Parts: sequence; structure tokens; C-alpha cells
Amino acid sequence: MAKVFCVLSGKGGVGKSTFCANIGKALSENKKVLLIDGDISFRSLDMLLSVDSMVVFDWSDVIFGRCVKEKARLFASEKLHLLASPLSLSDSFSKSDFEHLLSEYNEMYDYIFIDAPAGFGKFAEIYAQSADEIIVIATPDDISLRAAYFVGERLTEMGIDENKMRFVLNKTDYRQMRRGKQRNLDTAVDKTYLRLLGVVPNDKSLVFSGENGIYSASRRVNEAFTNISERILGKDIKLYY
Ligand SMILES: Nc1ncnc2c1ncn2[C@@H]1O[C@H](COP(=O)(O)OP(=O)(O)O)[C@@H](O)[C@H]1O
Ligand SMILES: [Mg+2]
Repeated sequence: MAKVFCVLSGKGGVGKSTFCANIGKALSENKKVLLIDGDISFRSLDMLLSVDSMVVFDWSDVIFGRCVKEKARLFASEKLHLLASPLSLSDSFSKSDFEHLLSEYNEMYDYIFIDAPAGFGKFAEIYAQSADEIIVIATPDDISLRAAYFVGERLTEMGIDENKMRFVLNKTDYRQMRRGKQRNLDTAVDKTYLRLLGVVPNDKSLVFSGENGIYSASRRVNEAFTNISERILGKDIKLYY
């Protein structure tokens, strides 16, 4: 039975898709992981995982019976699989459609990550309600941190328990923090009122280009994602890189 995570943010461009691709890579060393690209019309995980040339079907084809569940998957590696996002939706889908989709894959994976669009549209709400846990991503600037706080508030209004919400601070730069040019870690975390799951450095190896996929991330980036993956696995691992 897979544990399902929904990866959300208030602001766009904070690193949700980068997080999904890299945490998928880290966890799939030992576990079976399915990533679901939920950013309808703006898919990106297929490129991040270098399987974009292989996309034929997307998860809406499974929901609407145009493709069997096995055929819709793209294999980034033996244990890391992807369901691409629809480029457009001819029919809308309901929460029960999406939950049914998840149930189709539940027994086949240890972890499922849903990469949501930024903000709180109808689809992000469905993903959040269908997940076991929510991971909110933000960067250490006040606008992104306030947006993460608003996401937490909205999730609470939706009746989601705060114990199911975790927070990842992306694009951190300790030198900038020491110079007072970036919020320090404690202040950043306090501003969101969310429990910290991990910290990811600002690192140019994560700036994506076609030649620079996730498999060429630097050692400290890999270490940061290994730490987060171990915490997801329930181990008592240091928070900071
Ligand atoms: N830790 C990081 N360090 C440097 N660049 C990053 C980091 N995380 C993400 N990026 C870059 O930031 C941009 C937005 O990331 P992306 O994952 O697409 O965000 P989102 O999915 O939240 O819109 C991309 O160009 C990505 O390569
Ligand atoms: Mg994205």
C-alpha cells in the first residue's frame, strides 16, 4: 500500500517539480516510487526525468478508460516511474475519479508523489484531499514564506490535520543567511507554522537544462535529498545539510 504525498506551494517556481524528481530518485534507491505530474497543461517531470520523448499517454487517459494503467507509465529507472500530466483536459475529473486513479497504482508502489500546480485551484484541492500527507515547498523569501503559511491555513480550513503537513525550505544559501540577505532557518520555518521536513541548498546543479538532468545533481544536493528521504522512511536523520 503506497503512502501518497501531495507537493504544494503558494508561489510558483519554488521547486516543487525539482523536489518531486529528486526525492523520487533518492527514495527509488530502495523503494518503488510513482510520480504523478499534476500540473495540467504545464507538465515538467517528463523533462526533468528525461523521458519526455516517450510520452504517449497521460493519467487522464487512465481515468477516462483510453489506456490501461500499466501502459500509461514512463520508466525513469527500474523503480522510479512517472505518469505524465495531460496537456489539456476535454473532460473534467472529480475527487473520486482521482482517488480511483490512485487506487489503481496503490499496491504497485511504496510511495506516490503528486506534483501540484502552484496555488490553490480546484485540482490542487483534489490532490491535497486525496493524499495521506502534504509537503509544502517554499523559498526563504517573505513572499514565498507567507504564501506557504496561507497554504497551511487553507489546508486547515479544508479539514486536513496539521500533523499531515510538512514543510521543505528550498534554495537556501547559508552564506546569504549569515550576511542577513536571506531569512535564517528558524525565522523562515516559524513564518510558515509548518513542521520542517528538510532543507535543500540553492545549487546550480539543480538549475535544469536539457543536458543537466537530475542525475547530475551535486553531492551536497544528493545528500540533502538522501536526508529528506531517510526522514520520510522514519529514520532520525539530521535536518540540515
Ligand atoms: N535548490 C535549487 N537550487 C537552484 N535552482 C533550483 C532549486 N530548486 C529548483 N531550482 C530551479 O528553479 C526553477 C523552478 O523550479 P521548479 O521545480 O520548476 O518549480 P515549481 O515546480 O515549483 O514551479 C527551475 O529552473 C529549477 O531548476
Ligand atoms: Mg512544477
